Amino acid sequence: MNPETINISLNRKMAGLSYPIIVGVNLMSESEKFLRKFITGKKVILIHDEVFLNKDGSYSKFTQFKTAIKKITSSIFLIGIAGGDGTKNINQLNFILEKCLSFEIDRDSLIIAFGGGVIGDISGFAASILLRGIDYIQIPTTLLAQVDSSVGGKTGINSDKSKNLIGSFHQPIAVIADINMLRSLPEREFRAGLVEVIKYGLIKDINFFKFLEKNYKDILNYDEFKLKYIVTRSCEIKSEIIKNDEKENGQRALLNLGHTFGHAIETFGKYDGTIIHGEAVSIGICLAFKLSRKMGICSQIETDRVIDLFNKLNLPISLKDIKNLSVTTSKMIEKFKYDKKNKNNRLTFILNKRIGESFIKKNMNMNVLTEFLDEET
Ligand SMILES: NC(=O)c1ccc[n+]([C@@H]2O[C@H](COP(=O)([O-])OP(=O)(O)OC[C@H]3O[C@@H](n4cnc5c(N)ncnc54)[C@H](O)[C@@H]3O)[C@@H](O)[C@H]2O)c1
Ligand SMILES: [Zn+2]
Repeated sequence: MNPETINISLNRKMAGLSYPIIVGVNLMSESEKFLRKFITGKKVILIHDEVFLNKDGSYSKFTQFKTAIKKITSSIFLIGIAGGDGTKNINQLNFILEKCLSFEIDRDSLIIAFGGGVIGDISGFAASILLRGIDYIQIPTTLLAQVDSSVGGKTGINSDKSKNLIGSFHQPIAVIADINMLRSLPEREFRAGLVEVIKYGLIKDINFFKFLEKNYKDILNYDEFKLKYIVTRSCEIKSEIIKNDEKENGQRALLNLGHTFGHAIETFGKYDGTIIHGEAVSIGICLAFKLSRKMGICSQIETDRVIDLFNKLNLPISLKDIKNLSVTTSKMIEKFKYDKKNKNNRLTFILNKRIGESFIKKNMNMNVLTEFLDEET
């Protein structure tokens, strides 16, 4: 199966920017082919998830990757960190920054983030502030990271107040998504990643949603062809949305479908694995559809159809599905205040008119929201 390349092209006021996302199967052993022009002769800091040091799973693919990179540079330094949102914090960031500096990096040095969204987000953020900004490459190893977090240049860490509140926009110079990396991914993580895939269909492409409805069993069974297709299509949709709105002044906010609720829910879980990002967003998307229906914007049939797909994938669909979260309406609303989409203390939500058509709802009516949350909590 030949790899696909999606070019992310960003329209910027001064000069545009573009970089490749290469999606394929078994790409790790030949990574030097794709990365030669970015890396040759440079000092590389390879920040990787520690999970790849275990002798099972994707250990061998990580080794293949290192061997491939050594063909194009002799200067490689490794930093291993744990996956999971508990890692995406200021202490861990400081550890990475000091380590990189101890390797005597210069402005031509380059970071490679080899891991899921957590490794990608924190490494990308480190790259954006080290020596006022150095380049980085993403090798996403979770489904979520391949379809979402490795693409588009949002980097950052969590604050105790809420998710991703400290960060920057810093685009990678290349992304390689190898479907084969997903074989060792725990099933729970795989299903959670599918939430972001479904999100793209819901925002913008009903045919993609229909494809997922029809093919979800094959996808869960690691049908490589279909997996490659969903990763490619997701990256295409994301690139179409962000190309004219790199810094989220408008349409890019649509990618936040389910995330206003989701980020709040994640904070209740304290990033300890009680609930992971994709699961929180699964509940968040179901809530966004239910709220759209309550406001008379979306039909009951479409809302049920969305919830049905998440249900079939064994994903949580309601706040009541998560034990010990102790969510209340007032605590939820308190968390919404930290949402980056808000303007002048007015809440913004992403809602849906129908499957395949999301829109930005500004100035949410607080009475409607409170009544809705009272029903759901
Ligand atoms: N920057 C963005 O635009 C963006 C978009 C969506 C999500 N995110 C962020 O991404 C994060 C979630 O990403 P994630 O779900 O990839 O989390 P993650 O990086 O924590 O990975 C999930 C788990 O899988 C393990 N793992 C990773 N790759 C593996 C592999 N190939 N085999 C076996 N185990 C593997 C990790 O150790 C971890 O335990 C959240 O912090 C979220 O906020 C960012
Ligand atoms: Zn997300």
